[in-house]
Amino acid sequence: MAKDKTIYYCTECGSTQLKWAGKCPDCGAWNSMEERKVSKKSRKVKIGSKSTPRPLKANRQKKLKRITTRIDEFDRVLGGGFVTGSVLLLGGEPGVGKSTLMLQILDRIKDKECIYFSGEESEEQIRMRADRLQIQNGEILLSCENSMEKIMHFMDKMNPDIVVIDSIQTIYSEQLTNIPGSITQVKECSGQLTRKAKEIGCITIFVGHITKSGNIAGPKVMEHLVDTVLYLEGGENNLYRVLRSMKNRFGSTNEVGIFSMDESGLNPVKNPSSFFLSERNSDAPGTAIAVSMEGTRPFLIEIQALVTASSYGNPQRTAHGIGYKRLAMLIAVLEKRAGYQMGTQDVFVNIVGGMKIDETAINLSLVAAMASSFRDVSLPSDSAFIGEVGLVGEVRSVPFIKQRVKEASKFGYKNIYLPQKNVKNLNVEGVILTGVNSIEHFFNLVF
Ligand SMILES: Nc1ncnc2c1ncn2[C@@H]1O[C@H](COP(=O)(O)OP(=O)(O)O)[C@@H](O)[C@H]1O
Ligand SMILES: [Mg+2]
Repeated sequence: MAKDKTIYYCTECGSTQLKWAGKCPDCGAWNSMEERKVSKKSRKVKIGSKSTPRPLKANRQKKLKRITTRIDEFDRVLGGGFVTGSVLLLGGEPGVGKSTLMLQILDRIKDKECIYFSGEESEEQIRMRADRLQIQNGEILLSCENSMEKIMHFMDKMNPDIVVIDSIQTIYSEQLTNIPGSITQVKECSGQLTRKAKEIGCITIFVGHITKSGNIAGPKVMEHLVDTVLYLEGGENNLYRVLRSMKNRFGSTNEVGIFSMDESGLNPVKNPSSFFLSERNSDAPGTAIAVSMEGTRPFLIEIQALVTASSYGNPQRTAHGIGYKRLAMLIAVLEKRAGYQMGTQDVFVNIVGGMKIDETAINLSLVAAMASSFRDVSLPSDSAFIGEVGLVGEVRSVPFIKQRVKEASKFGYKNIYLPQKNVKNLNVEGVILTGVNSIEHFFNLVF
């Protein structure tokens, strides 16, 4: 009988070595080599009918079957609900609300057999949470099993429609000696569970923790394996949560779901604009309304800026919700193209509500808010600002202009400053559209 061979596998870069080393010879990581047994037995390759090449047109008409969760914010992110037999990863920082969301989702899915495997909490804790969230569906099956082999056994035996594994970092394979949560365990368990899920056609959701710095220690290795990767992010003020899809084999990755979080759990925010503008004081200098797009949805956000003479040598620049480099660029444009002496000013910029926005279409409102604070003159209270600002101070056109203008109009912002190029052929009832082509032009109009 052929003996098993031992190899050493680097958990950082995946290289394999014949000898153990304290430092991986390939990537230089310390203490990352793990022992693995490789069977020398020659395996016979079975060729199933599935692997026979077939024309593309075969099965073309087959439509994806979806199960809706009846939580619109969640369904939209998935592209219209769970696809039967799909495998998902839900990542997020500890405490953001992943277990809460999973329980709420299972509650909404009726007439399906759902098993919730929790390796983190006791049944008692889960029941207490279920009471707090007023979970109605008493048929959800609970198990506190951590062993991958046992979970697979139950999946085989009970043939459920939906399985939640909370979290993948607590699951271990009895065949491996590594501790649960190590890359080897996460890789092995998620791989085997995914194969099992595909075999029995069961929707499987892996919950995975990511670290505070956004580093996805274990779950990153399984992103390629699953069909859909979702991330639940928290706002800085802890009030709302954004659910994003980073990868989706069955839908667009543009959509986001917005939830507010309280003791009754996560509640969908149907109207993000009114949610984010609820405490606005429009008369104060330094506040401006921007219209941002998240996926195909426009929503209004308030941008606040405080520009004040600095008392120390080096002026401070602080940005919440936008990248620091973008702030530095816009300050430089203000200085060079509009003659604002920003070198002696501290600048603080904040996107109210703790949203993080990468979209450049909010640049004009950032510039407007900073200028308004610098001059200590408030902007007209019914105005909103849309446009990208370029390095030479030009205001550049942005996509989805009609949706943005309509959203602003819906909330009473009737006076909209937008890129000149976007004004063409645009007509929204009851809205005054003012096209601007540069920030000098813009400042001449508003101040
Ligand atoms: N009694 C409570 N009232 C309000 N919010 C609570 C309560 N208990 C827990 N939470 C919220 O739920 C969060 C934990 O959610 P949970 O689903 O366990 O997160 P995760 O699974 O992502 O670690 C806490 O951070 C807190 O915000
Ligand atoms: Mg949890």
